[in-house]
Amino acid sequence: YLNLFSADPWCTFHDLSSDCREGTGNYQRHSPKRERVPGENHFNMADELKVGFVGGGSMAKALAKGFITTNTVRASNIIASATTEKTLAVWKDMGCQTTLNNKEVVENSNVVFLAVKPYLIAPVAKEIKSSIDTSRHLVVSVAAAITTDVIEESLPPNTRVIRANPNLACSVQCGALAFCKGRCTSAADVQLIKILLQTSGMCVQVKESQMNAITAVGGSALAFFFLAIEAMSDGGVRVGLPRALSTDLATQTVLGAARLVQETGKHPA
Ligand SMILES: NC(=O)c1ccc[n+]([C@@H]2O[C@H](COP(=O)([O-])OP(=O)(O)OC[C@H]3O[C@@H](n4cnc5c(N)ncnc54)[C@H](OP(=O)(O)O)[C@@H]3O)[C@@H](O)[C@H]2O)c1
Repeated sequence: YLNLFSADPWCTFHDLSSDCREGTGNYQRHSPKRERVPGENHFNMADELKVGFVGGGSMAKALAKGFITTNTVRASNIIASATTEKTLAVWKDMGCQTTLNNKEVVENSNVVFLAVKPYLIAPVAKEIKSSIDTSRHLVVSVAAAITTDVIEESLPPNTRVIRANPNLACSVQCGALAFCKGRCTSAADVQLIKILLQTSGMCVQVKESQMNAITAVGGSALAFFFLAIEAMSDGGVRVGLPRALSTDLATQTVLGAARLVQETGKHPA
């Protein structure tokens, strides 16, 4: 897939290993402004890139939605597996291919996302091992807490592995995503994964040692804001607002606070 995109990627992407503002390590603040629409310079990519999801659950669907709606990957070039046809019905409705056979996912993909629950990553990796062609496949795990070396150990030597951490907001293309490289990942792999993940939101490359912290701040933290919205809505109801209006106001206020921090660059407090 090296020829599928230009040498001048447009991603608004920042590497945490360079250009420090504060905190531990180096980071240049993410710009909320996207200059270009994902997929627009990659007209060949949508036609030629084949993406597979081993495990067609919530996170896989969220990422696939980003690929498809930005025309970065054609729906017909996406294949997903699961253990039940019930899970796969929605993929068929999206125009994707489906299978109950994980090896078939690998055989029909260049980029293979491992999107099963973390405890299934190693067994599933072993299951697909014999179908992996290290020159063809890039394997991307989205499983929380599973390190690249665990995945690499279960796959053929020299398999190119990326560990990514999406969050639930990817399902509305407003995710906070981070990824780190494995031992054999190339610069082209990094470039490709940036293009793919950025279709679901903000995307940064980090060191593997930062991934667990990313899960806390960029993943699980969403729950705190859901709770805050609920509490604000409850407060509004208590002082006389209708529930729907109170929830809408609370939601928009959180959105506004986030946009203010993101766009002004001012300290949150
Ligand atoms: N959801 C999030 O917000 C989030 C955020 C960050 C990272 N992640 C990571 O994303 C991964 C998936 O999480 P999820 O929330 O998407 O879970 P999920 O909705 O339960 O999806 C997992 C899918 O895996 C399928 N599956 C189970 N065993 C399988 C097997 N042996 N082979 C192929 N497919 C199999 C299941 O299909 P059936 O239903 O048909 O059994 C299910 O659809 C996890 O590792 C999690 O850590 C999730």
